[in-house]
Amino acid sequence: MKRVQLEIVLGTILVLLSAAIVIILGAREPQRLADYEVQQRAELIEFGASVFVTNCTRCHGTQAQGITGVAPSLRDENFFTRRLAEVGWQGSLEDYIVSVVTTGRQISTRPELYAGGGIPAMPTWSEKFGGPLRDDQIRAVAAFIMNFEPYALGQVATLEPLLPPVDESTPEGRGQAVFVQAGCAACHTISGISTGNIGPVLDGLASRAGDRVSGLTAEEYIRQSILDPSAYVVEGFADGIMPQTFGDTLTDEQINDLVAFLLTLQ
Ligand code: HEC
Ligand code: HEC
Repeated sequence: MKRVQLEIVLGTILVLLSAAIVIILGAREPQRLADYEVQQRAELIEFGASVFVTNCTRCHGTQAQGITGVAPSLRDENFFTRRLAEVGWQGSLEDYIVSVVTTGRQISTRPELYAGGGIPAMPTWSEKFGGPLRDDQIRAVAAFIMNFEPYALGQVATLEPLLPPVDESTPEGRGQAVFVQAGCAACHTISGISTGNIGPVLDGLASRAGDRVSGLTAEEYIRQSILDPSAYVVEGFADGIMPQTFGDTLTDEQINDLVAFLLTLQ
């Protein structure tokens, strides 16, 4: 082969090779994009779960299963198949969730079944209307609820529990439920249970509680910090943020259970 011919052959091979690389990469691009979208959605759902645990479990239940008399299940078949027709909503279910959560619900459509907080039955959540949640948090919580669809339709048999299931037969288990229902979870983080970040993280509380105030045992200190938060203010936090009224709004039994639960946080 002459030199010129060789160069042409080599050049052709190079061109073909780069074309092949471009085609292979291009073919994988839709897959890469799809993977990326799945990843993004997974992150949105995870974020939505934390929004749900902090704000919604006290009425809709620790696993979104609903609480009789208070608020409906958000993961049953009725919600995914018949609810939109029942309320006459034209758009998608995800849009319905965003809309209901954004504005809240003044009057329950099923007051004898789910009275919620009375009037309003469910408070307004969007910042736009004076609620606590941003738009991205509302979209995330809607994605989180939509994620129950395969379960609601019987396509998956079990769900991973959103919160560790509580054993209501023990004081510690009932105390954990009170912790969520009374709204403590909105301000305090306990690993695996809540992500509130207004007050101190309560992991390990039982180990340090006995050293907080001289003369008070761990149990006495924890009880005092619930009934009279201003008696001892944790360093780095402001006084007057934690509600002072739990002594009135919770029963003695609920407070005892709560203390028993918090004493397990070694
Ligand atoms: C104070 C109690 C309460 C809290 C807290 C609460 N909800 Fe509700 N929610 C209700 C009640 C009551 C209804 C109305 C049920 C009805 O109209 O039959 C409702 C309805 C809904 C609906 C429509 C359900 C349906 O079947 O039409 C969605 C979705 C919803 N809530 C999501 C949430 C989310 C997400 C949160 C947290 C950001 C939340 N809720 C917090 C009480 C509450
Ligand atoms: C609005 C936010 C908010 C809510 C709701 C709230 N707390 Fe607090 N909590 C705080 C803040 C802020 C502090 C730190 C200031 C202080 O010590 O008063 C605190 C302190 C504490 C401490 C002391 C922690 C330590 O390290 O010594 C305990 C225990 C506690 N809270 C438990 C609870 C329980 C139980 C509930 C629910 C019944 C609750 N909190 C509800 C904000 C809150």
